[in-house]
Amino acid sequence: MTSQQKVVLITGASSGIGQATAELLAAKGFRVFGTSRNPIAHKHSFTWLPLDVRSDDSVDAAVQSLLGQTGQLDIPVNNAGYVQFGAVEESSIADAQAQFDTNLFGVIRMIKAVMPIMRQQGSGQIINVSSIVGHIAPPYGGLYSASKFALEGLSESLSAEVRQFGVSVSLVEPSYVNTPFVAQWPTTAIDDYTPGRQSAQQSLVTNAKKGMDPGAVARVILRAATSKPRLRYPVGVDGTIALMLQRVLPETVFEAFKRRLFSCGKTAA
Ligand SMILES: NC(=O)c1ccc[n+]([C@@H]2O[C@H](COP(=O)([O-])OP(=O)(O)OC[C@H]3O[C@@H](n4cnc5c(N)ncnc54)[C@H](OP(=O)(O)O)[C@@H]3O)[C@@H](O)[C@H]2O)c1
Repeated sequence: MTSQQKVVLITGASSGIGQATAELLAAKGFRVFGTSRNPIAHKHSFTWLPLDVRSDDSVDAAVQSLLGQTGQLDIPVNNAGYVQFGAVEESSIADAQAQFDTNLFGVIRMIKAVMPIMRQQGSGQIINVSSIVGHIAPPYGGLYSASKFALEGLSESLSAEVRQFGVSVSLVEPSYVNTPFVAQWPTTAIDDYTPGRQSAQQSLVTNAKKGMDPGAVARVILRAATSKPRLRYPVGVDGTIALMLQRVLPETVFEAFKRRLFSCGKTAA
């Protein structure tokens, strides 16, 4: 099958990484469907589908609509997500549930909707947009990191399970990317954490602004979609170096390095 014939479904294509990926893949000849919870307002070079990853019905309707138009689905890209910000103690259970509902359960809903199609085809490639924080957890990003750590584990298991059906799974793991990503504030903020949270938030905003262009992540997703798929694709030099150090340094040394990295505000998102 040529790239021109492949059908791609990208969740969260209204901005940032999803939008850049949808536009790049459409320009490269893929048949691209991009999703948003409010797609009417957006005009781009790909087909829009309304989709809220927090709703089983919405996910099923979007996938069935795509299937009705194409009869096939080759590459679902699970990209929709946001950052729940704040110390673990000051995050409510509702904050945690909402974070997982989008960043992890949303991906599971998508997998359950697309796998029957890909099992029947005997082919497909699931691309999950994770993060460097799926390996290295920053302070005040515990819920977000937990959702990405979980996505990493889920994807590893899934990869081993669906290989027998000719389906591959890839994780794309960017460090800071300059996007208008949403960072939700904790609903039960505790004053004792305010200085640390504010400094971490400032660091997040500053580093994201200095981060890579979303097109850089889109190009890695294009590479994953056009070459023999690997399980993991770290994106960004700083994150890749941090990952390497995590593997080679003793834990206490790495944790000290990490504290320094985060407090001096130069690290991965
Ligand atoms: N920016 C970074 O530094 C960075 C680094 C590593 C990983 N990432 C990951 O990259 C992915 C994209 O983030 P981004 O930075 O490009 O953020 P973004 O610009 O805010 O884009 C997020 C997208 O997710 C969609 N979305 C959010 N909630 C949704 C829901 N419930 N159902 C369907 N779509 C939903 C939004 O679409 P609508 O609002 O239109 O529905 C939007 O298109 C996320 O998974 C994020 O964790 C980002």
